[in-house]
Amino acid sequence: MKDQLIIFDTTLRDGEQSPGAAMTLDEKVRIALALQKLKVDVIEAGFAIASPGDFASVQAVARAVKESVVCSLARANAADIARAGEALQPAVRKRIHTFIATSAIHMEKKLRLTPDQVVDNAVGAVKLARTFTDDVEFSAEDAGRSDIDFLVRIFDAVIKAGATTLNVPDTVGYMIPSLWGERFKTLIERVPNADKVIWSTHCHNDLGMAVANSLAAVMNGARQVECTINGLGERAGNAAVEEIVMAIRTRHDIFPVTTRVDATQIVPCSRLVSNITGYPVQPNKAVVGANAFAHESGIHQDGVLKHRETYEIMRAEDVGWSSNKLTLGKLSGRSAFRARLDELGYQFKSDAELAEAFARFKDLADKKQEIFDEDLQALVTQTEQARAEERVTLQWLEVTSKTGTKPLAKVALAVDGEIREVQALGDGPVDAVFAAIEQRVGTGAKLLLYSVNAITTGTDAQGEVTVRLSKDGRVVNGLGADTDIVIASAKAYLNAVNRLEIPTSRAHPQHAEFAAMP
Ligand code: KIV
Ligand code: ZN
Repeated sequence: MKDQLIIFDTTLRDGEQSPGAAMTLDEKVRIALALQKLKVDVIEAGFAIASPGDFASVQAVARAVKESVVCSLARANAADIARAGEALQPAVRKRIHTFIATSAIHMEKKLRLTPDQVVDNAVGAVKLARTFTDDVEFSAEDAGRSDIDFLVRIFDAVIKAGATTLNVPDTVGYMIPSLWGERFKTLIERVPNADKVIWSTHCHNDLGMAVANSLAAVMNGARQVECTINGLGERAGNAAVEEIVMAIRTRHDIFPVTTRVDATQIVPCSRLVSNITGYPVQPNKAVVGANAFAHESGIHQDGVLKHRETYEIMRAEDVGWSSNKLTLGKLSGRSAFRARLDELGYQFKSDAELAEAFARFKDLADKKQEIFDEDLQALVTQTEQARAEERVTLQWLEVTSKTGTKPLAKVALAVDGEIREVQALGDGPVDAVFAAIEQRVGTGAKLLLYSVNAITTGTDAQGEVTVRLSKDGRVVNGLGADTDIVIASAKAYLNAVNRLEIPTSRAHPQHAEFAAMP
């Protein structure tokens, strides 16, 4: 009998710490429900104390999710833990995840606490968290660079205080698999009562080894892996759920564990997260990249046709690529539309919302003969954006582009309902459109990223555009999709402009000032 590996998904917390990936409450609930369908064991829904919005999101996820454990992050102080406990109150199964840094550099320079104080805070935090739930996780932040004797000491102390899961994070992505595996082996050998708790690994990908390190930890006793969909996360991101799950499944001959994950939900979940956060998936990304199962070379194609296992170690349909089939067309009715979205994990909240999305679907079907699941997902995201009462909306646009002249964009925008027309020249049609929009809204924001992806294949495919803007230290992503990429670009720019309008003041768990226990 193999052990069960606990899949702890932190897309909504660590993933959301990526620049511009902030999600609304509704978006978080949608992702949480998709994660539940994927059958991840634990969903880290957020950092409840970060802001009132974060608190409400954790609470909403706690209400919506019935099967997975719902978790909130909390620094090792009383206020954070009380807030996490309160937000998780409606959850059927809840976990408080408290953490404190344990490396010399973090304790001295960031926390300005002595090792003794750090142990006291950790113990106090775990004890307090146990008054809210029996399921308490403790993380030793920057464990990869922490002194091993100190880790043994603090883990021993928190087990005595009641921690049930001990998480060992490689916060800065500094580890390599052999060292990380060794670290788990040593900790499990040396910490008293190590067999009474679950050991967890949490790896960042700065050196591209987050998945390899996580799997090395599993080989050495870890029974929980913390990971995110598409490897989303700050800097180079976190270990990717889909890679961990498929490595364990594909190499069941060597891994001593299995997971509960329903792998057929991997691709729909990946698309949903990419769609909502505006982080496109690179085409050559393992498991979920558009090329992951494409065999370009003639020799490979020939081999796959004769016997697929010559070149394929996983089946595309096993990870949900089969849903990439033609789904709906111009003649499809409202109930077929609703049913397919239901299968994709999207439920409409009202008839008005369904009617609006269906109207968009009909518009799209006029422009594009075949509508795929990816199109539907982009469409509902846009419907949600439109319903989010955006202050600035596009009425129409016209671009003139001719060899040897500068493109000219004319754009009509409604700002708080007042429609006005503006025009501007640019280096290219998209540049001209952005310049025209800026003329009207004057955000002065800096464009950090502009990317276009074809949502499906074919020249009538919708282009999905991501625009990342930064202003006064805030970074937001905007998304837009359309069969015309200039219009998609305008929609994406406006979506980012509208997101800049939403005031956010939230604490970052790992940067914020530290409030000591109690
Ligand atoms: O990377 C890290 O150390 C974290 C902790 C808060 C668990 O995300
Ligand atoms: Zn992390």
